[in-house]
Order: sequence, then C-alpha cells, then structure tokens
Amino acid sequence: MTHSHEQTVDAVPQPIVDAARAASRIVVLTGAGMSAESGIATFRDARTGLWQDFDPKDLASPEGWLADSDLVWGWYRWRAALVRRSEPNAGHRAVAQWQQHAQVDIATQNVDDLHERAGSTVLAHVHGSLFEPYCSECGVRAELDDTDILDDGILIDADQRVPPPDCPRCGGLIRPGAVWFGESLPEQAWEAAENAVRAADLVLVVGTSGVVYPFAGLPAVARSAGATVVEINPVETEVSDMADHRWRTTAAVGLPLLVAQL
Ligand code: OAD
Repeated sequence: MTHSHEQTVDAVPQPIVDAARAASRIVVLTGAGMSAESGIATFRDARTGLWQDFDPKDLASPEGWLADSDLVWGWYRWRAALVRRSEPNAGHRAVAQWQQHAQVDIATQNVDDLHERAGSTVLAHVHGSLFEPYCSECGVRAELDDTDILDDGILIDADQRVPPPDCPRCGGLIRPGAVWFGESLPEQAWEAAENAVRAADLVLVVGTSGVVYPFAGLPAVARSAGATVVEINPVETEVSDMADHRWRTTAAVGLPLLVAQL
C-alpha cells in the first residue's frame, strides 16, 4: 500500500495522462526551470536567479555590449563553461524519449544545449544559443570551441573581462549568440515555434515564469488554437491562467513520470 503523501507527490494527474495519450502533435515549451535540476541557475527565482546578481541592462542588451563588450563576452563565456560542465537531467531525457515514439516539437527559451545532449532535436531556440556566437558587424557565424570556453579546466569568474575575438571575415567583434532585450527574435525559430503551437493538440509549458514576450504569448496562442495546455512548474506563474491543467512539480520529477505512463 502506498502512503497518501507519496501518491500526491508521485502521481501524474489523470487528465494530463489522458491528454498526453490522446495527443498526436505535442509541443514542449521550455524555460530556465527545465535546466534548473542540471544545476543551471534560472533568471528570476528568488536568491538563486541570475538577475538577482547581474543587471540585464549591462549583460543582455545592445547598450551593455557597446558599453563593455569584454564584460559581456566574459559573462557569456562563464555561462557556456557552466553548461559544458553540466549534464541533461531526467526531464530532458524524458522529452527525448517521448520524441522517439511521438511527434514532440521542442521550442525553448534556453540558450544551453541540454535538450540536444539528452538526444532531442530542438525545433526552435527562440532566444539563440550560447554556442553559436556570430559577428556583430557582418553576421557571419563563428565557432566557440571547448578549449576557448574551458580555459584549461579552470572556470573563469562571472565578472572576468574577456575580449571577444575578431571576425575572421570582416574584423568586427564576435558577439554572443543569445538574443538580448530590445532585439527581435530569430525569425525562422520564432515562426517555427508559433506554427508548431498552432498545429498542436497538446502544449506543455515547462519551467518558465512567462514574463518575457513574445514567447510568453505562446500558451495563449495554443489555447486559442484549441490545444490543451499543461503547465509544469513548482509555482504559479504569469501564464498559469492559460493552462487547462497546472501540475506543481519539477521538470526532472514530472516529465519522467508522465512519459512512463504513455
Ligand atoms: P525565469 O527565471 O524567469 O523563470 C524560471 C521558472 O522556472 C520559474 O517560473 C520557476 O518557478 C521555474 N522553475 C524553477 N525550478 C524549476 C524546476 N526544477 N522545474 C520546473 N520549473 C522550475 O526563466 P525564463 O522564464 O526561462 O531571456 O526566462 C525567460 C527569459 O528571460 C530567458 O530566456 C532570458 C531571461 O532574461 C533572454 O536572455 C533573452
């Protein structure tokens, strides 16, 4: 016999199981909470969020880049190094497993590569990638290799200034591949995400606070297009109201339990 406490923690709410079994086109929308159990800090969680210690105006805006590109480049190198030292969690692996036997499109705000390293194909990185820097002048893509990131195995400090490399083609500064506040999203990725959501019959919203637009508008798009919307997040968020079902669990606990039921 199972204790009732365990049942509350471990059971997937039946309507969510039913919706997942019935769905033929699934979209998983992910935010920083997806990677939290891999040890990657979120942005807005109290105490641990990156935006508690760092100012997005300095580090994630075109103005910040113009003011101090060495500080910005160093910070993104630090974040890339942290991701390189982290592993996908059970939630990433469960989504990858689900993709093996169903149509599951992933649209993520995350700039890490943990979905891919768990074996998933990612439809859209709507906020770019830590591992795809490009020239701030001519736009050509640049490589960011591990030797550059890891610094002989010594993790650089978050606020260490590192001069960005020069573009081999035009001599401009290579900039981080993440989208900054005030910039538009990569068009192809955004369109792919929006189209997938419109065509979906189930949309899972995992680990996002739902405050950064336009991504935060996708649950509403899903809902008006007729999809069932499920939120997986330990706390209530700005997009909770858009969800048909809200499951207060974490990515690495909830997703494996759900996928095991399918
Ligand atoms: P936030 O830091 O705003 O929100 C993280 C969400 O994850 C919160 O709702 C947490 O409750 C939830 N969370 C924490 N741990 C979790 C876990 N283990 N499992 C599931 N959920 C968990 O991160 P985002 O919503 O992704 O943009 O932030 C959106 C954008 O703001 C980011 O892409 C980034 C940031 O500024 C850019 O850099 C352009």
